[in-house]
Amino acid sequence: MSGQQHRHKSGFETRAIHAGYEPDAATGAVIPPIYATSTYKQDGVGGLRGGYEYSRSANPTRAALEGNIAALEEGERGFAFASGLAAEDTLIRSVCRPGDHAVIPDDAYGGTYRLFDKVEKVWGLDHSPAPVSDVAAVRAAIRPGETKLVWVETPTNPMLNIGDIEALAAVAHDAGALLVVDNTFASPYLQQPLTLGADVVLHSTTKYCGGHSDVVGGALVVRDLELAEKVGFHQNAIGGVAGPFDAWLTLRGLRTLALRMDRHCDNAEKVVDFLVGHPKVAQVIYPGLAEHPGHEVATRQMKRYGGIVSFRVSGGEQHALDVCAATEVFTLGESLGGVESLIEHPGRMTHASVAGTDLEVPADLIRLSVGIETADDLLGDLERALG
Ligand SMILES: Cc1ncc(COP(=O)(O)O)c(C=O)c1O
Repeated sequence: MSGQQHRHKSGFETRAIHAGYEPDAATGAVIPPIYATSTYKQDGVGGLRGGYEYSRSANPTRAALEGNIAALEEGERGFAFASGLAAEDTLIRSVCRPGDHAVIPDDAYGGTYRLFDKVEKVWGLDHSPAPVSDVAAVRAAIRPGETKLVWVETPTNPMLNIGDIEALAAVAHDAGALLVVDNTFASPYLQQPLTLGADVVLHSTTKYCGGHSDVVGGALVVRDLELAEKVGFHQNAIGGVAGPFDAWLTLRGLRTLALRMDRHCDNAEKVVDFLVGHPKVAQVIYPGLAEHPGHEVATRQMKRYGGIVSFRVSGGEQHALDVCAATEVFTLGESLGGVESLIEHPGRMTHASVAGTDLEVPADLIRLSVGIETADDLLGDLERALG
């Protein structure tokens, strides 16, 4: 079965392992080599082999990753970048021009907010924040004729708000804008936004796609060929591409995404069960809980509810800081989506830059990236740390 057939006919796990690469014609190598080359021998001037000319434009290891992630997201084409933010900047400049406008989540990932607020704004792109869980508010934030992008994360970070992708796509399209979904938290295994009407999917592949906390990367997958042409042009023209070593690591991570995500979800559900009703926990935030305001939408559009759990402790900010300092299996650190469990205090760590703004998060909030360790060890660690 060819890589192309895998893109359209096989199950998710099969695509994760086979799409984007055929065993090497010369050697039969089952895994794509790391093509550490910047340039390619031409068979006469302009006689390119397989279209390869220079590795900013295309590299076979990166091409394997790009084909693979496109197949997982059921998109037309994938593009791999040096980081999630490089992917974001390339997308924005592929679609927007000075004088345009974008709607962004009012609890966007801090780096995304900074990119819009400190970089794209200077370049002439304005933005308005709106809550992703409120379709009417997103519609109201659109400026007819000016809004080119409606940008959504779902679930969001760290409050795990849920946006209804189908409804938001309709709102964006009514206004002639594109819907971009940052699918980093869900991963392509739990949610495929393009099948729900989104135009572009974005990943910080640093997180679940890579999955082992050993590589920084980003990806875009687009639904239609016209947009693919624009993004492809800008990927090469701007040049923030994934190198072959990074592409290879990310591809290795994607092969086991389904297995890892199921274990992340299993463990997260156990952690949620443990935290709910714990005397030192004031609130547990997880889309899998029936009382979560986005539960119904999440159930409709996600396969499961993910590996991130946020919770508020009963003893205020100091208690939250103490818990973060006391865990041993959960490592205190930023980032998420790796095999190892991480704990962090968003107010002082990932979200410190939004203190005092509308994006500020509660001081007693803790975010867990629940890893794939033995569940009882995770629960025991939290029990000890909560005191
Ligand atoms: C939801 C989300 N989107 C985008 C990014 C940016 O990706 P990167 O750090 O790979 O540039 C991150 C990083 O934490 C993220 O969490």
